[in-house]
Amino acid sequence: MERGSQAPSNNGHPSPPPHRNDNVNAVSIDFPDYIADSSRYARCIEVSKRVRWEIDRDVIRDRQFDFDNKFLPDGLSLLDRSMLKSSDERRLMSQIQGRSYASIFGLVERFINAKVLELSQDHWLGDQVALEALIRFSDEELKHQELFRRIETMIAAAMPAGYRNTADPNAVAQFVLGKSTWAVLGLTCHIELFTQAHYRQSIEPDASLSALYKDVFLFHWREESQHTIIDELEWRRIDAQLPPAERDAAVDDLITLVGAVDGILQAQARADADYFSMIVPRSMTIAERELLAAETLAAYRWQYIVSGVQEPRFQRILGDLVTPAQMQRIGTALAPLMAVAQ
Ligand SMILES: [Fe+2]
Ligand SMILES: [Fe+2]
Repeated sequence: MERGSQAPSNNGHPSPPPHRNDNVNAVSIDFPDYIADSSRYARCIEVSKRVRWEIDRDVIRDRQFDFDNKFLPDGLSLLDRSMLKSSDERRLMSQIQGRSYASIFGLVERFINAKVLELSQDHWLGDQVALEALIRFSDEELKHQELFRRIETMIAAAMPAGYRNTADPNAVAQFVLGKSTWAVLGLTCHIELFTQAHYRQSIEPDASLSALYKDVFLFHWREESQHTIIDELEWRRIDAQLPPAERDAAVDDLITLVGAVDGILQAQARADADYFSMIVPRSMTIAERELLAAETLAAYRWQYIVSGVQEPRFQRILGDLVTPAQMQRIGTALAPLMAVAQ
């Protein structure tokens, strides 16, 4: 049942939605949904088994990163519009951004996996197919974190010292997991949907990227595809149990979580611009450094907030779960972050 409308548009002003119908008889629609959901969990298991990969055997294959090529494509790094004009400098910045892109995925997968394990308890004595789907999801996220740690070590060995990861995965997870499950699933669904879009729209079509870097996100994309389906199933399941009075607080939590993501992006963008200015073979003025930090933050907001919010599937799911007033509140809260990346 559609409750809300489209998620916040790029200018933060969603169009008027249809009215929410609160008179739905939940019992009458829950049973067939449950049956349909079980087959969707089963489909995730089937695909998960088919696309399963190993870090060394399938992804790394004794290769190293090629520093003659970019890591992150312009569609994500936004470096095609950068104040950096030389191709060498743009390539270096794409490698720094690409390093942070991988490390931030490792960061968010810490709390995603903890939440998936927590949600699996709801299925312990219930639908065993759903339970298996969540356990596979968790297993894959543990492997992805290991993959991102491995490639950070490989990149660190080939780049000058001084790079900093500004956020601690466990501290971030502690904060995120203190918020409502509805909000954590909303953030997770958003993140996992944009990983799909990033690969399909920007990474896969760019022939100029480092082959190993590209493969990391090819293999990641293959397993994330199932996660987005499970995210939606679990988010809708939790939503169906949430009293309307608590959804308002959950929406507040979702807004808080997106703000926390932005805090991480602000710190990492500053650190990455400073690192670039430290290792680039020329001196940069303070004004140039400030400009680079600002455009790096805009790129990170595009990668981690705006591109996900704009995803049609995320807009549709969120629109189903919130009221028009709640959608309006989300749109107003996110407007400053959406505007900066235009
Ligand atoms: Fe992942
Ligand atoms: Fe995932």
